[in-house]
Amino acid sequence: MKIKRIVLASRPGIDKAPVLENFRLEETDFPENLADGQVLAKTLYLSMDPYLRYCMNEESAGSFLLIWNISEVVFSNGIGVVEQSRSSQFKVGDIILYFNWPWQTKCILDDGSLKKLDPSLVDGHVSHYLGLLGTTGLTSLIGIKLQGHVTPGANQTMVISGAAGGCGSLAGQIGRLLGCTRIIGICGTNEKCAVLTSELGFDEALNYKMPGLAYKLKACCPNGVDIYFHNVGGEISDIVISQMKKNSHLVLCGQISQYNKAPPFDIDPQTETNLKECNIARELFLLPDYSDQFESATLELSEWLRAGKLKARETIFHGLENAPGAFLSMMKGGNIGKQIVQVAEQ
Ligand SMILES: NC(=O)c1ccc[n+]([C@@H]2O[C@H](COP(=O)([O-])OP(=O)(O)OC[C@H]3O[C@@H](n4cnc5c(N)ncnc54)[C@H](OP(=O)(O)O)[C@@H]3O)[C@@H](O)[C@H]2O)c1
Repeated sequence: MKIKRIVLASRPGIDKAPVLENFRLEETDFPENLADGQVLAKTLYLSMDPYLRYCMNEESAGSFLLIWNISEVVFSNGIGVVEQSRSSQFKVGDIILYFNWPWQTKCILDDGSLKKLDPSLVDGHVSHYLGLLGTTGLTSLIGIKLQGHVTPGANQTMVISGAAGGCGSLAGQIGRLLGCTRIIGICGTNEKCAVLTSELGFDEALNYKMPGLAYKLKACCPNGVDIYFHNVGGEISDIVISQMKKNSHLVLCGQISQYNKAPPFDIDPQTETNLKECNIARELFLLPDYSDQFESATLELSEWLRAGKLKARETIFHGLENAPGAFLSMMKGGNIGKQIVQVAEQ
């Protein structure tokens, strides 16, 4: 049998944005012989995430992430359906999730690291297990609970950068559900702003590519910012942090504006002073450190989804060959909600 796969052709290098030429589509022979404890699965959905930019750098080796190797297949969080099984845990037809799913049309996987998904929890919309019920939703909910200190009745204003992306679009809705009074999103297009305010219940949305972000944010938050869900970093975060109240809270989810650079990422000295003077902690939380909370958080998110209280937007590219383009598009802001690639029909 022949399959298609995407391999890493070259590294973008530190301080450079990734390009399509960093990837290569190949057709290759595929051994169908399964060992005990393995399944053969057809790939259905692949998740496109900002952390994959780290996987492209040799320098990232040694972090908790696996780096992608040159001329080898690349991988990300993915979902597939079991087509053959020599596993006692998984049978043909099961829908499974794996964190390092190879970007290829079919794959053989060891059963030890797979998770069986329950399509009925998402009304058959299994790609939600990469978004709302996946690492994206878990990051938003667990991050806010850990670092947001939302206090119902305290009239809090939450500001979200990267607000129209996967984590950001959920973070704003979750902030509201947990008890924030005002939700302000910052994102990169007027279309995204309209989605946030007309579909997702944000009170205001600001396009950071238009002039006057600091002034407009001040007008949206006249009494200051209580909680900042930090997805972006750089100048946008400097502006938000300069408007945070004393003893307010920063949820340090990520800083995508810096990901083409070499970590550790610099922080503006004035921003550091503002944080110190206002007694605001700025500590990155990493979702994998909170796996003990995944089950309860998944349940909470699925209840909100079923009750229609949480809306999950997705941007879907079709076809394995379009996975590199989907990743690059997400890194440049082409997505609204979670960026996903659908590789095959169920
Ligand atoms: N801590 C954790 O464990 C954890 C887990 C998952 C994700 N994260 C972090 O959460 C953040 C969002 O991830 P996601 O998967 O939900 O991605 P996403 O927000 O769906 O997609 C990335 C978005 O970032 C924005 N962006 C890109 N470059 C930018 C720049 N230079 N300045 C401002 N905005 C920029 C783009 O939207 P615009 O059009 O608005 O520019 C783009 O749509 C990332 O920082 C990611 O690393 C953290």
